[in-house]
Amino acid sequence: MKLPRHVATTAQLAAAHPFWGEPGYGRTGSYMGQDLFGAPFWFDPFQLYAAGVVTSPNMAVVGQIGRGKSAMVKSLLWRQAVLGRQGWVLDPKGEYGALAAAWGVRPIRIAPGGQVRLNPLDAAGGSGAGPGGGADLLCSLAEVTMRRSVTPRERAAVVAAVTMAAREQPPTTVPAVVDQLMRPTQFSASALSTDVRALAEDGRDVALELRRLVNGDLAGLFDGPTTPGLDLDAPLVVLDLSPLYGSKGLGVLMTCALAWMGARLMTGDGVKRYVVVDEAWALLSELTTARWLQASWKLSRAWGVSNVVVVHRATDLAAVGPRGSQVAGLAEGLLLDSETKVIFAQPASEARRAASLLDLGSSEESLLPRLGRGLALWKVGGRSFLVRHRLGGEERALVDTDAAMGQVPRATETGGVAAHPRGTGFWPLRPVTAGASSRPEAR
Ligand SMILES: Nc1ncnc2c1ncn2[C@@H]1O[C@H](COP(=O)(O)OP(=O)(O)OP(=O)(O)O)[C@@H](O)[C@H]1O
Ligand SMILES: [Mg+2]
Repeated sequence: MKLPRHVATTAQLAAAHPFWGEPGYGRTGSYMGQDLFGAPFWFDPFQLYAAGVVTSPNMAVVGQIGRGKSAMVKSLLWRQAVLGRQGWVLDPKGEYGALAAAWGVRPIRIAPGGQVRLNPLDAAGGSGAGPGGGADLLCSLAEVTMRRSVTPRERAAVVAAVTMAAREQPPTTVPAVVDQLMRPTQFSASALSTDVRALAEDGRDVALELRRLVNGDLAGLFDGPTTPGLDLDAPLVVLDLSPLYGSKGLGVLMTCALAWMGARLMTGDGVKRYVVVDEAWALLSELTTARWLQASWKLSRAWGVSNVVVVHRATDLAAVGPRGSQVAGLAEGLLLDSETKVIFAQPASEARRAASLLDLGSSEESLLPRLGRGLALWKVGGRSFLVRHRLGGEERALVDTDAAMGQVPRATETGGVAAHPRGTGFWPLRPVTAGASSRPEAR
């Protein structure tokens, strides 16, 4: 006799299989929220990297406005502090102040006419060439404003100028390089088998563009030695770039800030660190700054860094250039290099393209337009998790960006408030996990 087919929904299956839940990758790292298949969701890119689950600890966070991207990043930084992780944040909207205050640190505010100057050439050393070197950085910045690639002659002139500036008066600074480009030495000219006049001509366009960092709208920010006393060893370093938010100079500003941070990373202090680039579209909108971001991603894996890039839409990444173009390829490459993708809601009209960019299946694609605030699809090391990010207690005040909308942070929904290791703050959830250590673990 043929039995009637049985049909059950996941709700009924949950009753048939009580106490089952998606175990994720186990209880390591920080509690981030509730997997919608029932179990708590824990996350730690460094431990997942050490366990071979992911081959890079980088993360891409994608989602429509106001869905909770920055809130998730802030609480990840806050919760990971108990494991000794540090955070460096490029903050274009100036919204990490409350988090910094809870940590007992002040954001470094980068403003024209302000008190802080960063030298993006801190890492330039003697050669100024090679990935992360001063010559590469300056060529990239010149390309942004010239809206064309530098020629081989121009690049050679910049390398010579950086080398000479480093030799004559360390530390190398942008004005010193501009000066060398305008008035090259006989030594530089001979090294390139040319004469001083021809070399000055080769470097003149680049020099004029770079003068913007010295005399133009970004004057005073990157045109000298780094202001003494900036503490990059603080548990949280926030570069508040908000005075230039919305300006054309934001991409250049972010690139210089990233270069300055990169200089410090190269010293390799063994600390596991997050480098967060919030509102990363400003960097991705230009080929050269996108290239710079990608280069720093590739290098920083060796430095124990988890790069976190935050953008609104997956298609923003592809929209930085025509499909198949170099810049679109770079942006898509960043996604491929991010083995952890945290995907908040995407507009229905873009779900198909987003799914293809983010390598999602059809049921995941259908979820994208329906994800509410705080709910995200986490793709980690090839597996998918649907996670509701849980904020606890006063942690809400640290992530609130709705203050201007008149919302009052609500009471705790997760209970248990304990002391945060940074002393001045508060901790919403159990702070120390099984097997957790305050020392950065070996990789
Ligand atoms: N998991 C959550 N539970 C409750 N409230 C949340 C959650 N995540 C974010 N919020 C609230 O939603 C508001 C918007 O969050 P957030 O600033 O993180 O959004 P966003 O996606 O970064 O937005 P934007 O694209 O504008 O930067 C904040 O005030 C925050 O407090
Ligand atoms: Mg945000």
